[in-house]
Amino acid sequence: MAKTLDKARVSMVAELLRRIDKGDDVRLLAKDASRIAENISPAELAAAELSLLDDGYTPTAVNQLSTAFVVMRIYEQHVSGPKGQFQDVHILQKVTAEHGVFRCLAAELTAAAADLRAMECIWDTASEYRRLIHVVDHLSAMKEHFEREDDVILPYLKRLGWANLCVVAENDHAQLRADIDSLTSLVTAIHAFSPEDFQTALVAGVGRFCSCLLEHLSFEDGLLWPIALVVIDNPAVWRTMKALCEEIGYCGIHVS
Ligand SMILES: [Fe+2]
Ligand SMILES: [Fe+2]
Ligand SMILES: [Fe+2]
Repeated sequence: MAKTLDKARVSMVAELLRRIDKGDDVRLLAKDASRIAENISPAELAAAELSLLDDGYTPTAVNQLSTAFVVMRIYEQHVSGPKGQFQDVHILQKVTAEHGVFRCLAAELTAAAADLRAMECIWDTASEYRRLIHVVDHLSAMKEHFEREDDVILPYLKRLGWANLCVVAENDHAQLRADIDSLTSLVTAIHAFSPEDFQTALVAGVGRFCSCLLEHLSFEDGLLWPIALVVIDNPAVWRTMKALCEEIGYCGIHVS
């Protein structure tokens, strides 16, 4: 049976959306959003949005305010959780922190490839080559990061009806794995190539891999994980995922 709308709660949420629009103190708004939204139903949020449309707000503005409201609620739940000396780290915090490291590795890889391209002769003891090998070793470890997403996080999103978004991520992972494997074979078989052929293949392989990687990281940080945080709204599910990852022992950034 449909729940009846609590008119007082609807008008409190509408008022909060207006305060977000006015630019009140964001931390205070987040606290109020969490308190007010504790028992809010989707129908009540929709009714609050409707009352803003009646006030003359555009649909785009209402969508943005409503999204800000949902994000504030998630933020407040996160910061008002139990605080020990070391707060429990959400699995997506770990995932996005690794994305930051991967962006640095992509920049490092691009720089190493550019340095090697500028050399007339390449020795396997040259510091430029050793730097390349070091970064490529880190790329192999990156595969564990993809496995964590494929084996643990994406299956939960699929079950909640977001299979299409998961297919995009899985296809990217397959492409990135293949690119990592071909870069690894290339750099370890340096003696099989003439310097020119090695340089050409390296620059092309690095360019392809880095553009696919950067686009993939933006997709996850900007779209996939924000959606996951909204649709998987039970903290216990996230804790289960984190425990599973710990049990499997994914690291994502170590070099063996
Ligand atoms: Fe990722
Ligand atoms: Fe390293
Ligand atoms: Fe990924």
